[in-house]
Amino acid sequence: MGPLTLAGIERAARAELPPEIWDFIEGGSGAERTMAANPEMFGRYALRPRTLVDVSVCSLAQTLLGSLLELPVGIAPMAYHRLVDPEGETATARAAGRAGALLVAGIFASRTLEEIAAAATGPLWLQLYWLRRRDALAALIERAEAAGFGALMLTVDAPRIGHRLRDLRNGFAVPPQIRAVNLDPALMAASHRADAGSSGIADHAREQFDPTLTWDDLAWIRERSRLPLVLKGILTAEDARLAAEHGVDAVVVSNHGGRQLDGALPGLAALPEVVEALPPDFPVLLDGGVRSGTDIAVALALGARAVLVGRPVLWGLATGGEAGAARVLTLLRDELEHTMALLGRPRLAELNRTALAPWPVS
Ligand code: FNR
Repeated sequence: MGPLTLAGIERAARAELPPEIWDFIEGGSGAERTMAANPEMFGRYALRPRTLVDVSVCSLAQTLLGSLLELPVGIAPMAYHRLVDPEGETATARAAGRAGALLVAGIFASRTLEEIAAAATGPLWLQLYWLRRRDALAALIERAEAAGFGALMLTVDAPRIGHRLRDLRNGFAVPPQIRAVNLDPALMAASHRADAGSSGIADHAREQFDPTLTWDDLAWIRERSRLPLVLKGILTAEDARLAAEHGVDAVVVSNHGGRQLDGALPGLAALPEVVEALPPDFPVLLDGGVRSGTDIAVALALGARAVLVGRPVLWGLATGGEAGAARVLTLLRDELEHTMALLGRPRLAELNRTALAPWPVS
């Protein structure tokens, strides 16, 4: 029998991967306080089960920004899936399709947008970082639309890369055979070299990411695309309000898996203020530390419409390719369905604040 939990898949992946790749995937920034707090926050909530409810059918499907999600789960955008699997993002796309989950492909995907779109059978969105080279960004947006991507997700918590000490210690650089194939190689060269005490990822971002970006620049994307625009990396009510004022279609409450500002709020702690700052039906997603169906139920009860899952999908991919990644997603699906049944709340809309209490034992 294979692992029954994501923690079991994590252990198997760790045994499989070279240490510097493991550190790149698993690591956070600074003292990794925020990274550690992300999963811990879920334990602060208890579930309030209702009884004598017909739970013979639990429905997990919904439409989000025009995309049909069979379950309220997406794969968070992550660079270079080929670091852990020879096929990379095309395997992830098939896994997402099998499970009915959303895939958010990363700007630094190691397969082309067209290959990923051809492999995808479910909803597919594209994540962007704001590069100094706007022509490269414009070309990506055009290709994403042509390939049938359903939304653009702009990551706004990374004007520069967090201090990821593991990568600095390892002098981590992206191996030469693994490339962000959707961008001109000249724009990516810095990722592939690191001197002692530096990281190719951080050096590359310093060179290529545009740190002057402000709210007014969002209009530039809007002029180029009619796709829904999602902002990833919102942690405050103030920014949630600004996102709505600037016509953004959805936000992802996220601290980048604890890889950017160390000491930043855990996503789950920020979620209530973000939800309260926005109009009632404004879609809010959450990521960071989601590791079980119970975690998903808690996030949804606090107002998230869906969650994104990062590292666990790479653990699945590293240990079993497409089938391994699909296993992670179906485990989460089955756990969520089971939680909803035992909680007496068979519909997503019934996962609200009344489902939660503070965990009573500190
Ligand atoms: C990421 N993340 C990320 N986010 C983003 O917007 N663009 C990116 O290219 C990447 N790349 C990336 C690589 C790796 C290896 C990891 C682990 C993460 C962050 C990601 O989208 C998400 O916010 C977190 O991973 C969510 O936290 P968990 O589920 O990993 O705890």
